Amino acid sequence: MPEVGNSSQPLLPLAELHCHLEATVEPADALRLAKRHGVDISPVLNGAGGYQWNSFHEFLTVYDAVSEVIRTAEDYFEITYSYFTRMAAKGMIYGEVFVSPAHAGRFGVPYPALVDAVASAMEAAENDAGVVGRIIVTGVRHYGAEHVVEVAQSLSDHPHPYVTGFGLAGDEASGQNVDFAKAFAIARDAGMGLTTHAGEILGPESIRSALEHLGVSRLGHGVRAIEDEGLLMELAVRGVVLEVCPTSNIAIGLYDSIADHPVGVLVEKGQTVTLSSDDPAFFGVDLADEYRFVAEAHGYDDAALCGFTKNAIEAAFCDSQTRERLRSKVEKT
Ligand code: ADE
Ligand code: ZN
Repeated sequence: MPEVGNSSQPLLPLAELHCHLEATVEPADALRLAKRHGVDISPVLNGAGGYQWNSFHEFLTVYDAVSEVIRTAEDYFEITYSYFTRMAAKGMIYGEVFVSPAHAGRFGVPYPALVDAVASAMEAAENDAGVVGRIIVTGVRHYGAEHVVEVAQSLSDHPHPYVTGFGLAGDEASGQNVDFAKAFAIARDAGMGLTTHAGEILGPESIRSALEHLGVSRLGHGVRAIEDEGLLMELAVRGVVLEVCPTSNIAIGLYDSIADHPVGVLVEKGQTVTLSSDDPAFFGVDLADEYRFVAEAHGYDDAALCGFTKNAIEAAFCDSQTRERLRSKVEKT
């Protein structure tokens, strides 16, 4: 019988659609990078080997501070290769990561060099460990709509086969979704799959307006759709895919525990649910843990867990040949 993320073989195949690359850097590795670049990150460490924050806004600030240790294309290669090979050892067969050109640009890593570094690391990880990776280029809401247009324009000006999606992260309460419509239109015209954080911090209205103005096929989190029966129906009919990150929602304070998290109800109500880790190094969990927590909370068997992986593969922003390859990997388990 396959096991979730356990070193004993065979492993249950896992797939992830929602993970921020900068947040895959474990504190010990961040300290190593900080030393390399002469940066002090002690203010954001909690003394117990973790990052420290007390609210969602503080989390975003700490996230920016941690991102400052990633300063060169080589750093980007290193963290990407590290994440993908670590997760391959736990059964991950496919992963999409959000990559933020604004964060990389602060220290002079231009868009093409950033994408080349991350994509080369994904290629190396696939050769060495069999895991497939793709990039979702991401704008940050609270950096402003103009910045997000610039990010979309870079993506459009420098096509790369590993860049297959466009997304929007950051403070959901910053600006209106309509402000970002232009950026999403540029990305759509460039052939990108589209997703945005919505229904995480804000409620059902944020989801409705994301669907209306941004034309996304997937929602980052989207869990607060649970508060609106009509919206749930609409999401099910449209086949909108939820990138559900249970531990993140609990860590940010949306729900008290996995027992209170709506993932099980969302499944029961016919939503297309996938599981992801969001910011694994911040929350001290990884994708295998997410699968295990959800299985334990809801008594899901391996077939049910494989269902989350299949949903992710069907919703993945990848080409049809890659999707077919991934399907056959899951079928073999
Ligand atoms: N950036 C990194 N993690 C995030 C989250 N959980 N929500 C919004 N923006 C983010
Ligand atoms: Zn996220």
